[in-house]
Amino acid sequence: MIQDRKLEHIKICLDKDVNTSHNYWDDVILKHVTIPKKDLEDIDIRTEFLGAKLNAPILIDAMTGGHPVAKKINENIAKVGEELGIAIAVGSQRSAIENKELEDTYGVVANYEVPLRLGNLGAPQFALGYGEEEIKRAMEMINAHAMEIHFNYLQEAVQPEGDRVVDGLVDALEPLAKKFILVGKETGAGFDYISAKTLRDIGFKAIDVSGVSGTSFAAVEFYRGGKTGKLFWDWGLPSPYCVIMLRDLNMPLIASGGLRSGLDIARAIALGGNIGGFARALLKYAAKSWQDLKNRVEEIIIELKMAMFLVGASNLEELKNAEYVIKNELRFWI
Ligand SMILES: Cc1cc2nc3c(=O)[nH]c(=O)nc-3n(C[C@H](O)[C@H](O)[C@H](O)COP(=O)(O)O)c2cc1C
Repeated sequence: MIQDRKLEHIKICLDKDVNTSHNYWDDVILKHVTIPKKDLEDIDIRTEFLGAKLNAPILIDAMTGGHPVAKKINENIAKVGEELGIAIAVGSQRSAIENKELEDTYGVVANYEVPLRLGNLGAPQFALGYGEEEIKRAMEMINAHAMEIHFNYLQEAVQPEGDRVVDGLVDALEPLAKKFILVGKETGAGFDYISAKTLRDIGFKAIDVSGVSGTSFAAVEFYRGGKTGKLFWDWGLPSPYCVIMLRDLNMPLIASGGLRSGLDIARAIALGGNIGGFARALLKYAAKSWQDLKNRVEEIIIELKMAMFLVGASNLEELKNAEYVIKNELRFWI
């Protein structure tokens, strides 16, 4: 059952080390500026993304739904989205598309005034017949502003019961991208330039890169019994590499995959991302309480402002021009 699988994913992500072996954000060094530009408390981190006004360039990215435990996590995330004025996404809504009784485990997020609420469905389902009706239902379920369509083919390949189908996918998505606001999203193996360009050209409005640096779904599936999970543990494109490659596409970018702190958001924006997406690094707080989650996100906001203070940026536009050095493994990729 999909809902049992989602609970298993949460448990494994809370209990096991499922990170890739290297976090490539550590290879991005922002250059220090001796005299800051503005008082730290006057640094402006507001931004607009997909038409929504955010108080900070932060997305709590897709993780869960489909289970009472997941409902509480989604509610905690939505409450923090409302309190802090940041974007949120729910996890794959497939379980509720297939079983109406599970709708409220996602729909709970619609009770909160979040500036940007993203729904989530998997790309392989669109190669298997999902279309307009499923997107409409998913969006109405959470009163979504836009939909993430996740491309998780590494996970599907490793997962014994995975959907390893892609035939007809792009043709199926094209009319939908003209009707709905769609975001192309990876889940930890990263978006390459050609795939992102393909989606841009059929009308997708943004890309969530979700590259290698944090959660490895090969690792998660390894702990669920996927024998090849170990072999493919570190498979994929590093998150900062994806941001650098995709910035020339001139489309809004969610920099994600391995973000841990406000310093990582600053690195991501300096490289060309628009907002930072966090998943597993916030899961343990979201699973505990909305107050714990809010406290951690507030710390992340201070860390971002500190980094901006120290690179002499008074707003996110100026942060884009911050100078940086790339070292170690990321350097091989560039
Ligand atoms: C417990 C868990 C469940 C996830 N479920 C989904 C999902 O349903 N849909 C999706 O698009 N991504 C899902 N993801 C992937 C994240 O949204 C994100 O792309 C990926 O974990 C990389 O970010 P991270 O390194 O910050 O965790 C999930 C991640 C975690 C940790």
